[in-house]
Amino acid sequence: MNYFFLNWKMYLDRDQSIVLANHVASKDTLPDNTVIFCNDLALSEVKDIIGPERVGTQNVAWVPAGAYTGATSAHMYKQAGATHALVGHSERRHIFNETNIAIRKKMEACVDTALTPVLCIGEKKEQRDDGKWKEVLSEQLILALEDLDMKGQIFYVAYEPVWAIGTGVSCTSDMLQEVVDYIKQVLGTINQNAIILYGGSVSSTNIKDFDNIAGVDGVLIGSAGAKVESLDSMLEVLQ
Ligand code: PGA
Repeated sequence: MNYFFLNWKMYLDRDQSIVLANHVASKDTLPDNTVIFCNDLALSEVKDIIGPERVGTQNVAWVPAGAYTGATSAHMYKQAGATHALVGHSERRHIFNETNIAIRKKMEACVDTALTPVLCIGEKKEQRDDGKWKEVLSEQLILALEDLDMKGQIFYVAYEPVWAIGTGVSCTSDMLQEVVDYIKQVLGTINQNAIILYGGSVSSTNIKDFDNIAGVDGVLIGSAGAKVESLDSMLEVLQ
């Protein structure tokens, strides 16, 4: 497993984040490319515990500074020690009504600041059932990335079907292979190249399956990565 990304969402407060970060840091079997997307208020402590290049933010504002009450810019996250940013996570899209246009601006802000973006994409259950997943994914990819000069920076695309997030129902290997091939095809048409991750109900029982899919380089893990027992079980399986 090349990339082991943990999205702690708003599961853990500052003190709990520090405790779990210390636990993670104590593991000698941690994949090299481990990144923790923790709560903002714990970001700089988690960075001090887990080390540089291993902490990300779950969201960014698209402007560097100004009259944007409640927002935090990519530049500010960078200054606090983040190196990565989730952009367009489905909870941001669907609970906070983030549009593809806003997500594009956030991608631009990350590139301008040299914060490595993890663009999250995924279709809802009804879109999959209606056979519209290709349309949804290509729109999300194209609006976020077409003609965007990445300035040679690497970036990630995390395929996280909305129906798989937090449901215990993950994508099957066949389905995921088809999607990843399609994502690569769309990226090719817009001259972009990304590291592809899978997210959605990843746990110790299925993490190995995702390791065996051509074109999938890692996972973005939510709830199973925010608890000691399930985190340890995944690391054991990966050994
Ligand atoms: P989950 O969440 O692993 O709890 O399904 C994944 C995510 O939202 O990134």
